[in-house]
Amino acid sequence: MSDKTTQMTAILSTIIDFYYTYKYFHWNLVDSDFIEYHELFDAHAILIYKSQDVIAERMRQMGESVIGLLSEYQSNSHISKEKPDSKNNIQNILKYIKEQHDITIKLLEETIDFASENKDFSTADILTKYLQDHQKMQWFIKSSISS
Ligand SMILES: [Fe+2]
Repeated sequence: MSDKTTQMTAILSTIIDFYYTYKYFHWNLVDSDFIEYHELFDAHAILIYKSQDVIAERMRQMGESVIGLLSEYQSNSHISKEKPDSKNNIQNILKYIKEQHDITIKLLEETIDFASENKDFSTADILTKYLQDHQKMQWFIKSSISS
């Protein structure tokens, strides 16, 4: 795999994994503010879900192959496997989710940088939109962390 394919595959795998991470907490969370977080997590999951197809189709436009096995997405994802239990303290769950946004933001920034250096401005533009989405979601999650 070229550096560009490796980076785009990592982004695609990470956001697919991130989508199911949000869904996991959306479905299983038990908390006194359940409805509030149930709805927030779903809104973020939907936003992340929409980016998958655009990124995969951009890879094809650039002549790259897209992986298709769940096991491949899992091994290329940067999402931490140390997921807290859904019945864990909500603050621990929020901290975990915030860290996954930090990881995704770093991955997007590195790939935007690489794409720009190689004059692939369309990929940089597409990813910059998702960078903004993750920065906004990170802010929402961060602002719900009490300490
Ligand atoms: Fe739902």
